[in-house]
This record gives sequence, structure tokens and C-alpha cells, in this order.
Amino acid sequence: MGASMSRKHYRLEMPGRFAKSLETMLVAAALCGATFAAAHGQMANAPAVPVAHEVAGHGQGAQSGNDPWWKHAVFYEIYPRSFQDSNGDGLGDLNGITERLGYLQSLDIGAIWLTPVYPSPLVDFGYDISDYENIDPQYGTLADFDRMVAEAKTRHIRVIMDMVMNHTSDQHKWFLESASSRTNPKRDWFIWQDPKGYTADGKPIPPNNWISGFGGSAWQYDPRTKQFYYHEFYKQQPDLNWRNPEVEKAMFDTVRFWLDRGVSGFRFDAVPSLFEDQKLRDNPALGGINAQGDPILEDTYTNNLPEVHDVMRRLRAMVNHYPGDRVLIGETYLPSVQELDKWYGGSKHDELQLPMDMQVGFTNKLDASLLRQRINDAETSIDGNQPLFVFDNHDNKRSWDRYGDGVHNEAIAKVLATLLLTSRSTPLMYYGEELGMSTSVPTRKEDVKDPIGITGWPKEKGRDGERTPMQWNGEKNAGFSTASTTWLPIGVDYKTVNVRVEEGEPDSMLNWYKTLIAFRRSNPALRNGTMVMLDKNNPSVLSFVRKGVDGGPSVVVAVNCTGEPQTVSFDLRAVGKSISAKTVITDAPSLRGSSKLKDIALPPFSSWVGSIQ
Ligand code: GLC
Repeated sequence: MGASMSRKHYRLEMPGRFAKSLETMLVAAALCGATFAAAHGQMANAPAVPVAHEVAGHGQGAQSGNDPWWKHAVFYEIYPRSFQDSNGDGLGDLNGITERLGYLQSLDIGAIWLTPVYPSPLVDFGYDISDYENIDPQYGTLADFDRMVAEAKTRHIRVIMDMVMNHTSDQHKWFLESASSRTNPKRDWFIWQDPKGYTADGKPIPPNNWISGFGGSAWQYDPRTKQFYYHEFYKQQPDLNWRNPEVEKAMFDTVRFWLDRGVSGFRFDAVPSLFEDQKLRDNPALGGINAQGDPILEDTYTNNLPEVHDVMRRLRAMVNHYPGDRVLIGETYLPSVQELDKWYGGSKHDELQLPMDMQVGFTNKLDASLLRQRINDAETSIDGNQPLFVFDNHDNKRSWDRYGDGVHNEAIAKVLATLLLTSRSTPLMYYGEELGMSTSVPTRKEDVKDPIGITGWPKEKGRDGERTPMQWNGEKNAGFSTASTTWLPIGVDYKTVNVRVEEGEPDSMLNWYKTLIAFRRSNPALRNGTMVMLDKNNPSVLSFVRKGVDGGPSVVVAVNCTGEPQTVSFDLRAVGKSISAKTVITDAPSLRGSSKLKDIALPPFSSWVGSIQ
């Protein structure tokens, strides 16, 4: 299978190709059966479920039995520029996040992941780091950071940093030294190569055909030293040379810097692409041209090379020396669940604890069969490791728009939330997902901030749309900032789609998330019960049981993935002699109060969660 798919295939190119590789896989493990009949349905609402912490006063940070905290925590990604501006400059900052910790606690979030807040020229909005051991003044200071971590801790919220090990900024001192001469001691910290030759008019030819994920050749010529350097992303993001042990040592030192400061773990950016082929072989062409106008290539020689796993093992061993189960999360866009399993260290469990599963959340179509297959793969093909599902992040259109049909978007978003929060996976949310925030794609090139959108316009409009400010209320700038203008515009729907309004509406997206999170956090079957797919040939309704723990009740979940009413009946003899299931959560009013396991009428795109009696 190889490393044919990289995280650089953001957006809609990615899922179709993933789907192809997965179609060929077998759905393993026959679980238990059920019957269904197509018929009619209607709607309803979610009763509030009280939040219950497993250990009073410790929230999600606490251990349940022998489980590490990250197995049960709800993770929440914050794009700090867009969460809360505390000083009126139109940009979010660390003090703004601190101000909003109460909201995150009310959602029962267990850990926040901050996208990079290190000093940076901000060419890639922080993913071009010029100093790994400080905070960019735009976001605050190290003292602000420490205060945020301390206050988060009092609210039982942990802090996860984003760590970019694949590349630095071209303004980082390591690169400035490296670029200064061919004999500089840091020359070999980056990937320098002679030109392959020269054109007739004397122009240097790049060493091979490698293409940057952000457009154009991945090689940048440096006239001063007459060599090219390699950059997987922008030319201002030179790739580090991970074959040089000094690089690993320096980067591990930065990891230790933040661990010593009390962070609970990391999300490792673009981590499958740490290594490139030593022979610099050309990547095979797949045919066609991408949105940036470049030939579409396999990334065989630039992504997911086996050497990376040695680094992951050493990283895990180093982090294991710290107390408190620090967690390592990977940004792992991979072609298959088999490749994903390697990122855990397979049955050895000695690499990342939570490499992201991008197979489930980025199918981009509400297809019951496909989702069933992929969720089942995550259950059965990763050597008992813990899956991490994610539907939204700062690099892809919001799931509201990727899955929504334009008519039933809210019901569809509730289906996604139900899957995210009732499956066995650790859930990872993205700010605003809980409100049903939509993607605000720029309409004019001159408004675009993300360089991908500038170079790719109009085919690729960049990632600004999914990074607009958090919508807190219906007031100026949605309560995000008091500035006259904000770095990105506020979503046009902020008057109705915001925290304050949704807190007051029992049926809102926000209350749907709160209800699901509270149930997930308190219900033993959702916490630790095994997952058994039901009704496995049903093309319209995805359903499963989370088996009761220690003789406790099981939970059954059914989501209608179609715009038609569907009726399902469950034969749950495999999980006990169940004949009824009390409705716990549903957005179908007709199912509220129902306790049937037979002829459950699910309205279009509705969700139903029942506790088996
Ligand atoms: C990751 C980040 C993305 C960034 C890229 C380069 O994919 O999620 O936002 O542009 O890496 O660092």
C-alpha cells in the first residue's frame, strides 16, 4: 500500500482516494445481527443528562480504573487567532483563551490543543516557527501561557501543544546558520542539494520532481551557496534533515522544554513527512494537474517512510519518563487503517498513543455502509489501540458544509456529533463545531489571508473559511473582539449561530453536544463497553451497541443517514435478552419517551440513543 497518500491532500481531493483503498478491504469480525424494515418516522428532542465526573473534583483529568486520562477526555482544538481577543487588536490571544475556560469547562472538555503560538513570521500562521521555546508577542507571553495552563488545571482541563518537527521557519536561527555557508556546522540540519543541472540560459534545475504541498517545486534555490533546499510546504518552511542525529536531539529538547512547563502532550504536525528518500528518487506521476497547477504525484518518496517509526519510538520512550500519562497525538493522514496501526507501534503500543484516524471523519458523505466499515476498521484493525476520530480541523472546510446537504445541515451535524461521541474512539472537536459554525469562504482574492488561497485562487481558496472567529454572542464581532476589524471576518450567521443564543435553546447544536458529552462521560457502557455493529447490511441506518460493563445496561445507537424516513428493529439477543430500550437522547420528538426495540421510526437524518432495559 505504501505511502501513497499524504496529509497535504487536504480538502476534497483526499477522501475519494482514501475511499478507493478502503473499498478493497474486508470488514472484519462478524458481530451481531439485526433486522430492519423501511417505513416511516418523525422527530424529537434531547433530555438534559447531568454531568457526572468519575472522580469528584478531578473531571476528565482523572483516571478511571487503569485507563489513561486521554482515553476518556474530550479533546478540543483551538485556533488561538480566532478564539478570543483580550486586548482589542482583532486577533485572538492566550489571555482570551484563559477568559473562556469557563465555557470549555461547561462543555466538559478534558484537553485543549492549541495550534502554534510560538514566535513566527506567520507565513503559515504559526506553522513556521522561528523560536520553539517562547510565545509570539501577538498571543502573549510565557507568563500568560503559564497562567492559562494553571487556570485550565483548576478547571480540570489539560493543555496540548502543537509541535512542528518537520520544518522550521526560514527565519529560525538554525536555518539562518545553515543557509549562511556550505561549511556551516548546521548546513546538514536541513536538506541541501546541488542543482540537477542548468538550463540553456543558465537557470539551475531542481534535484528532482518533488512538489510542495502548497504549490510549485519543493526545492528553493539559494543563489548565495548555489544549492537548493527542500521544503514540503512554503519556501519559508525549510524541512529539517532528520537523518542528522543533532536535529533529533535539538527537537527533543524543545519537546522537553514544554513538558517541563507542564503541558500534557503534543499534537505532532505533518509528522509522517519527517523523512525523504535518501536517493532523491522522483515521485511517480498519477496523471492530471492539481488546483495549484502542479502535476499530481504519488508521495512515495516524501511521506510515511519507515524510518519515521524509529523516531516515534524514541520520542515515546523519552516522554514515558514524565509522570501523568503525557499524550502524543499525530496529524496522520494515511492511506489505510493498516498504515495507521503502525503509528501506534501496532501490538507493541510503543509509538503515538493517539495518531488521528482521518478515515472516518473525512469521508465527506453520510454513507451508512462506508462509515460502518471505517468505524469497524478502527475497532478491529489497530491492535486494541485507542482510536481518535475527528471530523473538523483548521485545514478542511467545516463538516457542516462537507456533509451538509444545504437543507438538513443541523440534523446531519447532529448525526456526526452522535457518531463522534458515542463510538469508542476518543473524540476530537474543533472550536465552533459544537455551534454548527459554517465555512466562510472568501469571495474576493484580495481578502484571502492563507497563502494557499492566494497562490491557488480561484480553484483553491485557502483555509480562511474554517478559521473565522468563534461566535460567542450576537453583539459586535460576535463577542470575539472589540476591534474595528478582525483578522478574518465574522461568519455572517453569527446573530443566530452563537454560544449565548444556543445556550438558551434546548434543541440547539450546542445543547446536543453538551448532552452527548455528559452522557458519554458518565455512562459506563459508553466509556468502556465494547462496540458491536448492528444491522450490518443496512445501507441507510448506521446502528451499534455499546455493551454494558459489569452487568450494567448496554447502549444502542441508531442514526438515519438518509433524507428518507427509515424504520429499524433490533434483535439484541447477542447482548442479553433485551426487549426494550429507553430513549435517552434523540432529536426525533416522536421517539421521545419511546422504549421500543422494534419498528423504531427514524425521521430523515435523525439520531437516537437508547439504554437497553
Ligand atoms: C499541518 C497543519 C497545517 C500547516 C501544515 C504545515 O498540516 O495542520 O495547517 O499548514 O502542517 O505546517
